[in-house]
Amino acid sequence: MIIAIDGPAASGKSSTASGVASQLGFRHIDTGAMYRAITLKLIREKLDLSKTEDLKNLLNNLDLRVDFTQDGQELYLDGVQLGDEIRSHEVTEFVADVSAQSLVRQYLLGVQREVASKHDVVLEGRDIGTVVFPDAEIKIYMVADSRVRAARRQKDFARQGIEKSLDELEEEILARDAHNAKRKLAPMRAAADATILDTTTMSIEDQINFIVSKVEASKSNGGTN
Ligand code: DC
Repeated sequence: MIIAIDGPAASGKSSTASGVASQLGFRHIDTGAMYRAITLKLIREKLDLSKTEDLKNLLNNLDLRVDFTQDGQELYLDGVQLGDEIRSHEVTEFVADVSAQSLVRQYLLGVQREVASKHDVVLEGRDIGTVVFPDAEIKIYMVADSRVRAARRQKDFARQGIEKSLDELEEEILARDAHNAKRKLAPMRAAADATILDTTTMSIEDQINFIVSKVEASKSNGGTN
């Protein structure tokens, strides 16, 4: 079974996808982390995105491996496991431009379909229900008020000892949403048959339960959404 979870930044996708996957014994595939890993490589190589041949060469020789353990998805770039470096400010700033490149999207489309092919999976991203798996059995599009999303990000940063104002975070979030929703290729949007889940006032636990109940209902009526 394929569960597709899409939606804007800080709508609650990651924690929800991870909780659903662990309750159901599915694999949790974080596609945003894959875009971030390629972005990190491009930063390290100082690659100019306008040089298509260079980008093509880099992707042809890219050593990016996706693995799954009890702890979830693990990414290895050039043989080294990736950690928080893919969440740095520099990567977060550049990833929107990188993820708008068709060569990059084509490359990761193959990777995502391959890693999801032999297992029950929960994939989170921006285009899972529309492009990567348009036939996914369950499609959820998570949204939340931008102020509430900014507050969630503020808490994440506070845990890392970084202080940021709500105004600044809300502005960043809205700018990223606009960038992802307006791009030509695989723009962030809800699939016509997705269930919209507004998480503004929901707890993570409620979000997980909502999706798990949908999966159970879908299984008992033969697998339709
Ligand atoms: O979910 P995230 O913030 O880690 O995603 C990082 C970036 O990758 C974000 O700018 C949107 C982009 N992305 C995408 O274009 N398609 C996906 N399926 C997942 C992420």
